Amino acid sequence: MNTNPLNHYITTDGITRDWLERLFKRARSFVDKGFVHTLPEKIIATCFFEPSTRTRLSFTAAAHRLGANVIGFDTTSSTSTSKGETLEDTIRMVSSYCDAIVMRHPETGSAAQAAAVATVPVINAGDGNNAHPSQTALDLFTIQQGIGRLDDFTIVMVGDMLNSRVAHSLATTLGLFRNVTQVWVSPQALAMPRTIQQQVAGSVDTTYQPYLATADIVMMTRVQQERFANKYDYEKLKNSYCLSLEDVGQMKPEAKIISPLPRTSELPTTIDHQAQAYYFQQAGFGVPVRAALLEWVLGVWQ
Ligand code: NCD
Repeated sequence: MNTNPLNHYITTDGITRDWLERLFKRARSFVDKGFVHTLPEKIIATCFFEPSTRTRLSFTAAAHRLGANVIGFDTTSSTSTSKGETLEDTIRMVSSYCDAIVMRHPETGSAAQAAAVATVPVINAGDGNNAHPSQTALDLFTIQQGIGRLDDFTIVMVGDMLNSRVAHSLATTLGLFRNVTQVWVSPQALAMPRTIQQQVAGSVDTTYQPYLATADIVMMTRVQQERFANKYDYEKLKNSYCLSLEDVGQMKPEAKIISPLPRTSELPTTIDHQAQAYYFQQAGFGVPVRAALLEWVLGVWQ
């Protein structure tokens, strides 16, 4: 895959199955044989205009594992953004300090905006409720590790389908695989956006229980408090789902529960030790998958 000369990774649009398979092979080799210093002397900038734990730290760990150095910020209050500097100015300047930029921002379209002015590759680590393409790579790798295949399976996504950039990027990318049945479960007010429903086949529902016995993957997402205009609407919907021990008991023993995390009430700690609970392993896969991605944007493999 080389749709842009700088190897930006802004959305999953345009990626191919073949490219994903090569990415996963690379990630798998890091898991099996350990990391190699393929990016010595490189500088990765992590520019996080919105909170993050896993994404920022797994990119940072991945860069260190490959021998690169990391600069960056994790809050805008300590940067010139708080003085009114534009995103474009920040990115133009950061471009001259580093070899690649990993950026998260609360606004939809901000990653594309950054890529338009950057002189180094930009990886979108989440732009508003739009896309989260590195999470998709990680989610697909997790599914492959968890159930052993990326074709012929049923995935039930549960939670805030309207605002989950994780669900949006994953749902559209699953179209690359054969015979994947998708079910998007949410309260009616938080249904999967029409644009995605038109782009990829899937069914919509408000309850997940009917699908538990046949699901291979159940992906739980939290209701995204920060995307709500008013607190009252959030309070009304925040506890819409809670995957109980009884629910897990209905799942196939080899099925997997995944989540981008962080969790709120939808994933109680009581299920953490069930065989199907796979979300902490998933978070761990963030390092090898993002390492492979950093290598790709910097031209180590094509
Ligand atoms: C997700 C995100 O930021 O979109 N988290 C993550 O990257 N692991 C999901 C979320 O915040 O709910």
